[in-house]
Amino acid sequence: MFSKTLLSLVVLAASVAAAVPSVSKRATCSNGKTTANDACCVWFDVLDDIQANLFHGGECGEDAHESLRLTFHDAIAFSPSLTASGQFGGGGADGSIMAHTADEIGDPANLGLDDIIEAQRPFAIKHNVSFGDFIQFAGAVGVSNCNGAPQIAFLAGRSNDSQPAPHGLIPLPTDSSSAILARVKDAGFSAVELVWLLISHTVGAQDKVDDSIPGAPFDSTPSDFDAQFFVETMINGTLVPGNGLHDGEVLSPYPGEFRLQSDFAIARDPNTSCEWQKMISNRANMLARFQQVMKKLSTLGFDQSTLTDCSDVIPVPTGTVRDPFLPAGKSMSDIEAACSSTPFPTLSADSGPVTTIPAVNLDS
Ligand code: HEM
Repeated sequence: MFSKTLLSLVVLAASVAAAVPSVSKRATCSNGKTTANDACCVWFDVLDDIQANLFHGGECGEDAHESLRLTFHDAIAFSPSLTASGQFGGGGADGSIMAHTADEIGDPANLGLDDIIEAQRPFAIKHNVSFGDFIQFAGAVGVSNCNGAPQIAFLAGRSNDSQPAPHGLIPLPTDSSSAILARVKDAGFSAVELVWLLISHTVGAQDKVDDSIPGAPFDSTPSDFDAQFFVETMINGTLVPGNGLHDGEVLSPYPGEFRLQSDFAIARDPNTSCEWQKMISNRANMLARFQQVMKKLSTLGFDQSTLTDCSDVIPVPTGTVRDPFLPAGKSMSDIEAACSSTPFPTLSADSGPVTTIPAVNLDS
């Protein structure tokens, strides 16, 4: 009798232990930093290394921008509908763009990403982390260097096994807004989530659509995580910033500023125009939505519960940004408001003559 009771207690204790998920201990890493999980310690070493040696001492410069762009290009080549048709639909944020660069760089949408892939790869190998993890980590750290940015989540633990992603799944600036909406829907993103993803273009520039003006930014404040991208894409385009209008480019409102055809179209599409405008009127919402959608993007193709949350390794961004404004020389009459249900927010213009928007300094 006694031994039977003891046995049941032992069995009960064992089953309770099995039911409790393995909680990993808060860790103090060898460099003295603390994190929620000891598996995250390696990322502090990666952080110090890339801030010093990839992001030039923690800049929100071209390498940070390209690192953010790379998170999207690795992850979005993911198509459940292709998988359902019996073909390989891509592995999402699996690092395949770094593991199979020779193949994936042949996708026209990946034009210009070879430099950042080659710059990043040695860091991933040196620290023995997977390419998929590294790409998402570098993107989150790069964003943290930009003034006023939100802290992006980082989950670690993606396998380093991947297959080359199918070509044709990454949106091109020449695609129509309906084609882009359909593509991201297949990958699991709604129309408003597409707008949230495009918050990224507030810290962006182009090099390759018109290679006569490398570093031509998408807004007048490419190091600030502000809403200027959403304001300036709504200003009437009047000029060609480079040596002609190229495929994927439309008229720009300022000398030096570059406007992608896809951004122009999504800003004015009835499915997305009101969400676009909302980014101007509610900054807290913009930051929260970017955090939300980047967590989803960065884990595309993975079960989040199988990954380890190492978000506390990502630096808390600093810096402040201005409230949305109209750059000098423009007025509210230059705004092409596209949301029929809500008036465009009233913005004041900087004083002085129209200025040329300077190109982003090219890091290398
Ligand atoms: C949805 C449709 C999208 C299209 C068609 C698109 C297209 C482009 C193009 C053509 C460029 C310029 C590349 C060059 O010439 O160097 C660019 C830059 C950029 N894109 Fe996108 N993009 C999209 C979405 C995204 C998303 C979702 C992200 C990130 C989450 C992103 C992040 C960036 C960044 C940060 C840059 C600037 C890179 C730099 O300054 O060097 N884009 N994008």
